[in-house]
Amino acid sequence: MNLFGWPVEGDEDKRMLMEQVSAFAQKVVAPKAKHHDETGEFPTDNVKQMAEMGLMGMMVGEEYGGANLDAVSYAMCMEEISAACASTGVIMSVNNSLVAWPIEAFGTEEQKKKWLPPLVSAEKLGCFALSEPGAGSDPGGLKVTAKKVDGGYKINGTKNWITNGKEAGICVVFASIDLSLGQKGVTAFIVDTSLKGFSVAKLEDKLGITASSTAQLFFDDVFVPSDCLLGKEGQGLKIALATLDGGRIGIAGQALGIARCALEASKKFALEREQFGAPIAKLQAIQWHIADMSVRLQAARLLTWNAARLKDAGVRFTKEAAQAKLAASEAAMWITTKAIQVHGGYGYTKEYVVERNFRDAKITEIYEGTSEIQRLVIAAQEFAAVTK
Ligand code: CAA
Repeated sequence: MNLFGWPVEGDEDKRMLMEQVSAFAQKVVAPKAKHHDETGEFPTDNVKQMAEMGLMGMMVGEEYGGANLDAVSYAMCMEEISAACASTGVIMSVNNSLVAWPIEAFGTEEQKKKWLPPLVSAEKLGCFALSEPGAGSDPGGLKVTAKKVDGGYKINGTKNWITNGKEAGICVVFASIDLSLGQKGVTAFIVDTSLKGFSVAKLEDKLGITASSTAQLFFDDVFVPSDCLLGKEGQGLKIALATLDGGRIGIAGQALGIARCALEASKKFALEREQFGAPIAKLQAIQWHIADMSVRLQAARLLTWNAARLKDAGVRFTKEAAQAKLAASEAAMWITTKAIQVHGGYGYTKEYVVERNFRDAKITEIYEGTSEIQRLVIAAQEFAAVTK
């Protein structure tokens, strides 16, 4: 098993895990990826098998049924699964980092016991409802409300761009308990999507990651009992932003997988395709493309592992997660563009995987914070370090 430069000495567990996940990704997930891309059919079977392998609750404690693995393993597994199918990758990422993680980090013992086991087993899938039609990059400006009533809260409003929104049984929702408080009113809730008043209003028809759902969710007077409050009232924006730090490691891993698939396909194609009487791999122009793709991929991979390593060490990793997500998503877009160039006209057709890689790569520069937002986060952390 190639661990791409991860020091394997003394890390036999990681090597074994990656062997298992890589074999599963290539034998089970990859052969069906084209079908899922073309039909938009949700990869139910992949998710079921991933849950059996512990991939749907990778960092969740064993006491809640999780695999209790580290964030580096998570990033590596995200790369493996996404190299086979980026739609399956994002489904896994949202369940792990945007739903299971905040429940384990901010939930009460009762909440963890109730909500984590079904997430880990994928009996219920999770979604993270932060964005709204008018609040994407600026979640502090959200308008969905949670009005305090006897025994709980009533949630009203619309959420947009919610990955897993169609299939989710558990939704971590952010709503304002008082719009006049601005960011300080934002509060997090764990919502059972079978509750009365919850509905999927619309599904997006997307450029890439077509087999994962991206939904508009509508909350019409959804009564949520008090014990579904996650953290404290007014703590929601901090919970959302801390959660997104970890989420960005997952999306960086997804971008690495997409980019790696495109690089591998380009090497194979260059060795087979003959022009001017020899495989194009013999041409320096192609060799330079492959070399540049390889460097950008590995640089982004090391930044991703660095962020994950800091998360595992329990220190703040906001800047490093943004660096990883920015570098990996831009590398994925750049590498997949070059991959099509290496393939020439063939790369522009649906017959070759790089066409799908190119479409799937784009979203990694947008969700869980656009590249512009990552730059803003990195700059803010850089200046904060100077003024300390
Ligand atoms: N961890 C914990 N707390 C944090 C934090 C972090 N990473 N970042 C900021 N905070 C705290 C701040 O300390 C501040 O607290 P105080 O009020 O006590 O000082 C509070 O949160 C607000 O922080 P800012 O003042 O920095 O907030 P801001 O309004 O200036 O916004 C931002 C900062 C970087 C622009 C942030 O809003 C952001 O990251 N936006 C992008 C949102 C995003 O990624 N959306 C994607 C949605 S999820 C998705 O894609 C859907 C999907 O299904 C995949």
